[in-house]
Amino acid sequence: MTWSNDEIAKLVEPDRVHRKAYVDPDIFDLEMERIFETLWVYIGHESQVKNPGDYYLAQVGRQPMIMTRDANGEIHVLYNRCPHRGAKLCTAHSGNARRGLRCSYHAWMFHLDGKLNNMPAMQGYDGTNFDINDPQFHMKKPPRVDNYRGFWFASLAEEGQSLEDHLAGSKLAFDQLVDRAPGKEIEVVGDCFRMVQQSNWKIFLENQLDSSHPGVTHESTGHAALTVESDIKKHGEEPPMAYGFLSDFKRIGFDGWTKFGTVGYPNGHATLEGYMGLRPTDPDTNEYVKRMYEAYGEEKAEEILAVDLHHVLVYPCLSIQPPLQQLRTIRPLGPNKTMTEIWHFRLKGANEAIYQRALGYYYLVNSPSTMVNADDLFNWWKCQQGLESDGGDWVSLHRDYGRDYQEDGVWHSAPDSMSELPLRHMMQAWKTYMTANGKGA
Ligand code: FES
Ligand SMILES: [Fe+2]
Repeated sequence: MTWSNDEIAKLVEPDRVHRKAYVDPDIFDLEMERIFETLWVYIGHESQVKNPGDYYLAQVGRQPMIMTRDANGEIHVLYNRCPHRGAKLCTAHSGNARRGLRCSYHAWMFHLDGKLNNMPAMQGYDGTNFDINDPQFHMKKPPRVDNYRGFWFASLAEEGQSLEDHLAGSKLAFDQLVDRAPGKEIEVVGDCFRMVQQSNWKIFLENQLDSSHPGVTHESTGHAALTVESDIKKHGEEPPMAYGFLSDFKRIGFDGWTKFGTVGYPNGHATLEGYMGLRPTDPDTNEYVKRMYEAYGEEKAEEILAVDLHHVLVYPCLSIQPPLQQLRTIRPLGPNKTMTEIWHFRLKGANEAIYQRALGYYYLVNSPSTMVNADDLFNWWKCQQGLESDGGDWVSLHRDYGRDYQEDGVWHSAPDSMSELPLRHMMQAWKTYMTANGKGA
């Protein structure tokens, strides 16, 4: 069906959302046009293309993109499409093309900034309208490309908010990711895990800051980890710290999640405070803090480490956990299909134990093979199945509705609650974007 803006607006009420927002193919197409192909969408971190000639594939809405680094060290974002007869230029997710990109169909060759360099039998174009310097024969660039602290984004809208204005309060996620490195730089480690979820992209985003689910969904994982921990202790040993990432799900319990506040920033971004602030006083952490003091001075280092933040959603495309150097991208593939890419980073200048902590969280909590993720995936799939049925029209977002409060344009959850504020907040942003006409919102 064709959706009018009035009809779209009716899908989102202050405390509930109509199921069609999650299942309708035409709504999905409009989301791609008005949200993912309009707003700033994450491409990748600069360390994914560390060396001249490196390239990495990304996606903005339905558009295939490629990030490259040229011989001068400049980063470029280009459509992954050959201007000759339209073939995708690169199909491997990443690689090095130091001598430029070469199309596998008829061997048109491109510089790493997308300009056409050469092709076989060029004399065949003599006397035609072809001109090697004409941009129509170069790889196309998205209208706007920018980075914030080494994290690159593209927007397919010619005009609109700058990247920094769009990121607003969510900039804190990138500041924390980078500032926590004593060497003041971070880099990705290895490649990412890619996972295709059989559910709508909004179900993933909504789950990330949903503090009423871990004590239920992950209770069995927490219970098993606690049992293993106590067995290890019975043998007079200390369990590895990373086990705590799992046993916490049981230790915190259901009601314990009321102590973690949530915040809604302009443009749909949201955060979960607290949880793993990670300021334990074990020797590894003490060594890390010492290195931070040396790098920044005590006052500035304490300011960085005191930020009480566990999880940030950068609307509509990222889920970031800065204290554990984790970042997940959201690439919607269809109304009931979403790909996430799961990355982790190394803090330059930090001791190895701090990296092992990030790796432990990556493997034990965020990877596709954990019990944590498996239980989440199963719930998201079940939500999608239920929403596609005629068993009811509405999704409830009522928990603590009416008790959120606003200060200076930023929304805060009620104290001691497991408020569904982030879900309501994102859906209100969704309504605003979906009822604007895209490209420049
Ligand atoms: S389609 Fe790329 S060279 Fe022909
Ligand atoms: Fe979960």
